[in-house]
Amino acid sequence: MHRDDFEILKSGIIYLDNSATTLKPKCVVDRVVDYYTKYTANAHRGDYDNSLKVDMMYEEVRDKVRDFIHAKSSKEIIFTSGTTDSLNRVVFGFMKYYLKKGDEVLLTKAEHASNILPWLELEKEIGIVVKYIPLENHQVVLRNVQESITERTKVISIAHITNVLGDERPVRDIGKLCQEKGIYFVVDGAQSVPHRAVDVEQLGIDFLAFSAHKMLGPTGVGILYGKEELLEKLHPTIVGGGMNTSFHSDGSWEYKSLPSRLEAGTPNIAGVIGFGAALDYLTEIGMENIHQYEQSLKQYFLAQLETIDHVTVYNKDVGGSIVAFNIDDVFSQDTAIYLNHYHICVRAGNHCAKILKEDLQVKNTCRVSFYFYNTKEEIDEVIRVLKRSKDIFRIVL
Ligand code: ALA
Repeated sequence: MHRDDFEILKSGIIYLDNSATTLKPKCVVDRVVDYYTKYTANAHRGDYDNSLKVDMMYEEVRDKVRDFIHAKSSKEIIFTSGTTDSLNRVVFGFMKYYLKKGDEVLLTKAEHASNILPWLELEKEIGIVVKYIPLENHQVVLRNVQESITERTKVISIAHITNVLGDERPVRDIGKLCQEKGIYFVVDGAQSVPHRAVDVEQLGIDFLAFSAHKMLGPTGVGILYGKEELLEKLHPTIVGGGMNTSFHSDGSWEYKSLPSRLEAGTPNIAGVIGFGAALDYLTEIGMENIHQYEQSLKQYFLAQLETIDHVTVYNKDVGGSIVAFNIDDVFSQDTAIYLNHYHICVRAGNHCAKILKEDLQVKNTCRVSFYFYNTKEEIDEVIRVLKRSKDIFRIVL
């Protein structure tokens, strides 16, 4: 699907590391180049034509993001530098002021570092208690969420889809539970928003974090969605130009209203504008089509892997478009290096989810992660290469 739009694919690579970042279609690259070559100016600061055009383009993208995730208002969309930045702002700009010593935050051991380390910092700083919802077959089930909630539970913060196994969490049910119990629901959407339709209202999400670069957009742009009344209370973790209305020598100051209050400094203008082209592109294809197509690729790959008896797959029954596997008795990174010899790009290792190994019983995996431009022919080639496993040691060693 749409392969001609991705210049890099003409080099002959088989790109299967889409959970790390996706390729960029020509329209995104062109949009970025246009900004740099035709109308460069800062945002929200100038009164000349190019500057006003930048303001318009930048704010249009905010509206596109609002529509893409079905937020109520553009004020609920904050541009950040990535998912990590967005989650850090929730923890250090909101939760740090809301939570008290002894309050409990529920995570899982399958979370990415970005959704564990900020909470561990806060645990150290103010004495909150980080707890892990027990996983079943490495996945979150609603019963375990319910049983993990106590009187002190104030926040549940989990990925919608995880980046190692690609399992989809019952986010809608958890959102409902959180609403009933007055618990804040923080969702890491880095691996879900690029792959399926996400409706923050329907899912009962209070804060959602995701990254542009995992959905065709430029690197260095993230999104923090938060319900307006919550963002109103979120302290800016970065202050400076563009977010204040005044400050005085007596030490007083006033900040702007949302969303500017939370976007200090010159933003990644080119990145945000480029992201607008990515959103148009994804909307044109349709998120449901993307989801269905990726599922068919994954099922095809899993079926083909079954024909190789020395491969172990760790996540056959999950909803996302990730396959985590190892060639038996081969270190995952050796497999990745071997595949690279055939221009096949996959990620190997612990994928920044460093405590999942306690549940998975394996430290490192090889990860194939699909996007809509991958094909069954590419999978056939991967399978051909994996079948010639004797070569691994000749090539890697
Ligand atoms: N979180 C990204 C990944 O899973 C970088 O590869």
